[in-house]
Amino acid sequence: MTEKINIAIDGHSSCGKSTIAKGLAQKIGYTYIDSGAMYRAVALYCIQNGLIKDGVVDESALKTKIQSLQIEFRPNTTGGADTYLNDKNVESEIRSLEAASAASKVSTLKFVRQTMVYLQQQMGKNKGVVMDGRDIGTVVFPDAELKLFVTAKPEVRADRRYKELINKGLDVEYNDVLANVIERDERDSNRAESPLRQAKDSVVLDNSDLTPEQQFEWTMVAYQKAIDKVTQTDQL
Ligand code: DC
Repeated sequence: MTEKINIAIDGHSSCGKSTIAKGLAQKIGYTYIDSGAMYRAVALYCIQNGLIKDGVVDESALKTKIQSLQIEFRPNTTGGADTYLNDKNVESEIRSLEAASAASKVSTLKFVRQTMVYLQQQMGKNKGVVMDGRDIGTVVFPDAELKLFVTAKPEVRADRRYKELINKGLDVEYNDVLANVIERDERDSNRAESPLRQAKDSVVLDNSDLTPEQQFEWTMVAYQKAIDKVTQTDQL
């Protein structure tokens, strides 16, 4: 049997990380974990409990609550997993633009990151995980055997996100989605705590001009190379 590895997929928002991660996990029988959903769940908690006002997070109130938040992924009927916050399915609520903006804010807080990183490391301790996010290859799994850094032009990403939100029945404007993408890039890359950085040993995938099929093939080649490397190392 092939040895299991951990796969870290980082990159800008809306660049298709989750599509890559889900497709790969399904093909190779690994567990997919959407780390962004965890920050979104914390953000939703803040929104629902008045801990974020005019874009400012009540840090001390969140600090007293963060350890008691129960964030889990449970299988859904379509073969994927839904995000649960304190036993409630919040999968659709955490995908709103409001939750995205709030997530981008709570994810700048050190104590929030420490709590999420600990949970994520527990989820990956037995390997066989494909996790996507911003700091997976640099902080969560610095020893991941395969690290991908995914990117695409902001306009391409905004267009994809816009179509996704419209398909979900949300009432959004393309220009607002583009502004949201640019604003989040800026915050994700410039925050003091674990800013989005390309891990030194990661492989870059710019998918601006790739079809989903080309991207999938590319990813499978990268996976196979990582497995070959692990197997060769084991035989030395
Ligand atoms: O990937 P996403 O758009 O669902 O992520 C939501 C927010 O959470 C985004 O602003 C970046 C942040 N995030 C993070 O800081 N670290 C991660 N590992 C994943 C997401």
